[in-house]
Amino acid sequence: MNTLKIGVVGLTVGNEHIKSYMNAPYDIEIFICDIDKDRLNTIGTKHQIPLENRFCDFDEMLSSVKLDAVSICVPNFLHKSFTIKALEAGAHVLCEKPMSVNATDALLMKEAADRTGKKLMINYNQRFTKNCRIAQKLISEGVLGDIYFVRTVWHRRRGVPWWYPLSEADKTCGGGPLIDLGCHVLDRALWMCGFPKPKWILANTFCAVVGEEAKQRGIDNFSVEDMGVAMLAMENGMMLELEASWASNRESELVKTRIYGTKGGLVIASDYASDNRSINSLFIEKDGILEDVSFSDFEDEDTGDIRISFIESILNDTQPVCTAEQGLTVMRILDKIYLSAKQKIPVEY
Ligand SMILES: NC(=O)c1ccc[n+]([C@@H]2O[C@H](COP(=O)([O-])OP(=O)(O)OC[C@H]3O[C@@H](n4cnc5c(N)ncnc54)[C@H](O)[C@@H]3O)[C@@H](O)[C@H]2O)c1
Repeated sequence: MNTLKIGVVGLTVGNEHIKSYMNAPYDIEIFICDIDKDRLNTIGTKHQIPLENRFCDFDEMLSSVKLDAVSICVPNFLHKSFTIKALEAGAHVLCEKPMSVNATDALLMKEAADRTGKKLMINYNQRFTKNCRIAQKLISEGVLGDIYFVRTVWHRRRGVPWWYPLSEADKTCGGGPLIDLGCHVLDRALWMCGFPKPKWILANTFCAVVGEEAKQRGIDNFSVEDMGVAMLAMENGMMLELEASWASNRESELVKTRIYGTKGGLVIASDYASDNRSINSLFIEKDGILEDVSFSDFEDEDTGDIRISFIESILNDTQPVCTAEQGLTVMRILDKIYLSAKQKIPVEY
């Protein structure tokens, strides 16, 4: 196998991508790019990346070296243009979540991947955690029966990412916590349930807690929600409730998905309020007896690194686990959620 040349652009969360590529059991040469020269050199030095493999300009990186793949880890509003440029330069792309700032851009990205014949994977890394994998397997094996209700949430008490470009964040980020955190818990719930098709969406958004603080921080047009809630009615009759907040008056951070099926239910959660305790259980009834089964009783031999899965989809020419089509579906749902919240009425998917 030839050495895989992989570029990483945007070196905050991009640092995690570099670490995965360095630890991958494959022959990989890494190239890095960040507009912030100090960050570029700090990260470059930390990982002993040669000076000639470091770039401040993404176009220059693409024209200087024939990359096999690129990790796009820049702010959301750059996902579309950077992804399309990388695909057109002949590279496969692993793009950070959310896929883009809206479904229109996401569609252009997917079309570019289809046109160039390159892979486009979205970095929904929660699917690769042990508990999500176990939950997905139990559901796909029919252990829960038919799924009829899902509640999937990511709440923070105070956790606005103030370092994001939050002036006109509706344009730079595409929204607030619904698109930033909600996309993760929505994606993982849809994936576990086999991506049922939505029919109706009713949602609302609030900026109830941090409006004043945003002003004090000099952000006059904090144009996004600090909390959003949505109810999705699926074509198959299933209901899905999504909640996400950057700031809300509650205990502490909670990331939780609860699934109700005709034969069983399950919950996966990271509850940061109670000592970062993870509560992950299956609830079933056997011969009239109710049973709780902890996820710690289930085997899971997978290493669960999304970046390695991306590389393997390239090497084996297989479909990536988190497809562009699924990324686009999440963006279409989020667009409709924001539309319903704006119009204050249910909207058709
Ligand atoms: N999968 C996850 O769990 C996860 C976690 C955090 C962030 N993210 C996603 O990763 C993306 C980046 O988030 P972050 O928290 O790292 O943001 P950040 O603002 O901390 O970092 C972005 C980096 O991109 C660089 N950059 C900006 N414009 C650039 C340009 N034109 N050319 C080259 N570099 C440029 C910045 O200098 C910065 O180093 C976002 O889309 C976010 O949603 C995903």
